[in-house]
Amino acid sequence: MIFFNGNYVEQAHAEITDRGYQFGDGIYEVVRVYNGQLYTAQEHFERLLRSAAEIQMDAKYSVEEYIEICRQLIEKNQIEMGNIYIQVTRGVAPRNHPFPIPSVEPTILLYAYASARPEKGLKEGVKTITAEDIRWLRCDIKSLNLLGNVLNKQKAVEHGATEAIQIRDGIVTEGASSNVFAIKDGTVYTHPANHLILNGITRLEIKKVCASLNIPFVEEAFESSFLFECDEVFISSTSLEVTPVIQIDDTMISNGTPGKVTQAIQDGFVANIGIQ
Ligand SMILES: Cc1ncc(COP(=O)(O)O)c(C=O)c1O
Repeated sequence: MIFFNGNYVEQAHAEITDRGYQFGDGIYEVVRVYNGQLYTAQEHFERLLRSAAEIQMDAKYSVEEYIEICRQLIEKNQIEMGNIYIQVTRGVAPRNHPFPIPSVEPTILLYAYASARPEKGLKEGVKTITAEDIRWLRCDIKSLNLLGNVLNKQKAVEHGATEAIQIRDGIVTEGASSNVFAIKDGTVYTHPANHLILNGITRLEIKKVCASLNIPFVEEAFESSFLFECDEVFISSTSLEVTPVIQIDDTMISNGTPGKVTQAIQDGFVANIGIQ
């Protein structure tokens, strides 16, 4: 069962003039489900409403209403370990770039699906590549326009890698679908939460874990060369959690094994989720 424009239905189809379909004029979120329970849903829906406000769009429901829809979807689809995908577009209107006048109802889609944790990568670490960050300048909005991310992720896959670490003007911004962290002498460094990155919900959870473990967490831009001088690198996202990076391009990171600080952060993160 999926939720589409106010109803729980077995199937739904996009209209060809939906602005999400034609312009990428919409926003999305992915919320994790662990043991049948929503994880950090409040934070994800607050970010969804912020993304909506930033593009002057009405996402129609409150955080609490969205959470209730998610609970219904978990129950109706019997999801234990999985994700909920949420997408809101500006709606259906004859094709024209400016916002429709009068405004139309947004198209609202939520669906749940089973998805296992990426155990192998979490334990053994993953390979990554570096790639030029060719995206627009409002990466803080979780918009449907993902072409830059898609092209870089494809490049990673073609190199047998899990993620592309994106670099803009020599500075490490974030992964194609994750945030990036470098550790040097026990301190975690990551790009500040500004218009050049998505302020990941996992990133914010990691910040809390670091505080509880007394690991300094510095939100400062760093150059790509630092990736190869630091001790450890990891990436984070709703699906990847805290994933160690063991290779960037042709260079091994922390001798090709997950580093100790990364592992401590990963352990703290998993303990907070409450799963084994
Ligand atoms: C570009 C980008 N940065 C960062 C993230 C991580 O965000 P979160 O931890 O909220 O999943 C994502 C997640 O999909 C992403 O697409």
